[in-house]
Amino acid sequence: MDLIDPFGRTIRDLRISVTDRCNFRCTYCMPEEGMKWLPRSEVLTFEEIERLARIFVEHFEVDGLRLTGGEPTIRAHMPLLVQKLAALRVPASSASAYAGKKPDLSITTNGATFRLLAHELREAGLDRVNISLDTLNREKFERMTRRDELVRVLDGIEAAKEAGFSPVKINAVVERGVNDDEIVDLARYGRDHDVEMRFIEFMPLDATGHWVHDKVVGQDEIVAAIAAVFPLEPLAGRGAAPASEWRYLDGKGTVGVIPTVTKPFCDDCDRVRLTADGQFRTCLFATTEFDLLRLIRSGADDEQLAAEIQRAVGTKWAGHQINQVTFVRPTRTMSQIGG
Ligand code: 5AD
Ligand code: SF4
Repeated sequence: MDLIDPFGRTIRDLRISVTDRCNFRCTYCMPEEGMKWLPRSEVLTFEEIERLARIFVEHFEVDGLRLTGGEPTIRAHMPLLVQKLAALRVPASSASAYAGKKPDLSITTNGATFRLLAHELREAGLDRVNISLDTLNREKFERMTRRDELVRVLDGIEAAKEAGFSPVKINAVVERGVNDDEIVDLARYGRDHDVEMRFIEFMPLDATGHWVHDKVVGQDEIVAAIAAVFPLEPLAGRGAAPASEWRYLDGKGTVGVIPTVTKPFCDDCDRVRLTADGQFRTCLFATTEFDLLRLIRSGADDEQLAAEIQRAVGTKWAGHQINQVTFVRPTRTMSQIGG
């Protein structure tokens, strides 16, 4: 049975945050110190994640699962979770391209320890990986992430390629005055290393509240900067994927932008989210949550869980209001929601 929201959008993609912890402290996401971590007992177990994921995939025909954090790779035994999720099957009767198959499994990671896990995750059934990289300059990397880990992240990207992930996508959050001078260098890095760079507009999900509209570098500006050096043409139709994509005219791959702020793609949104503490959210910017952890631990059966998921999706709004004066920031940061 499809999961359809009040605006007729079919939910196809579930983002699962497996931990709120992280080994980085990116300035656009976390404060330097003082994050309060969830107690272990309030984090969904692998069995609980698997059970909820099964309802999404096998009952609601969701065909994409993305693992996020915090930093998902710092949770122990991740290949085991991937194995469990890879055993799920999208119903054969589904209209999905994944009908009768396992859902598309992906992960978003900062890459620092990815070399240690890449092969095992691939073997366990992981299909795709997105790695974050905002700068190629070691000092700036340390300023932005508060960790001196550029070398290990670059190695993590190579490890992802070696393990057979393809394409490997690289996320760069662009913040004006911080790394907007590196847009072309990052694009060149993507071309030279056979990975797809995706530039993300800075969103108001930082912990310190320093986001202001002027710090957003918009899609048009990003694309113009790249095209001035490497000519581009747009690729048709992004469908439900958040990234708009361009192709290099010389054939050296593609580049994407996630224009959340300047060109919201909410009309095509097919995503919902589960936080590490089992809160179900129908939008990254949602201000209400549905407590699936409490429900699951109070002994609810699958039907009750499915009914609550359906009720929640029935409240999914048309779109975020970042550009309106009425916008209310979610109280959680990106690391507490999952990217
Ligand atoms: N704005 C845009 N992207 C963000 N991310 C984290 N915080 C923000 C923010 N405030 C991105 C990370 C990573 C993904 C999980 O979310 O860079 O790519
Ligand atoms: Fe960690 Fe990702 Fe947040 Fe950076 S953006 S602090 S890597 S969760």
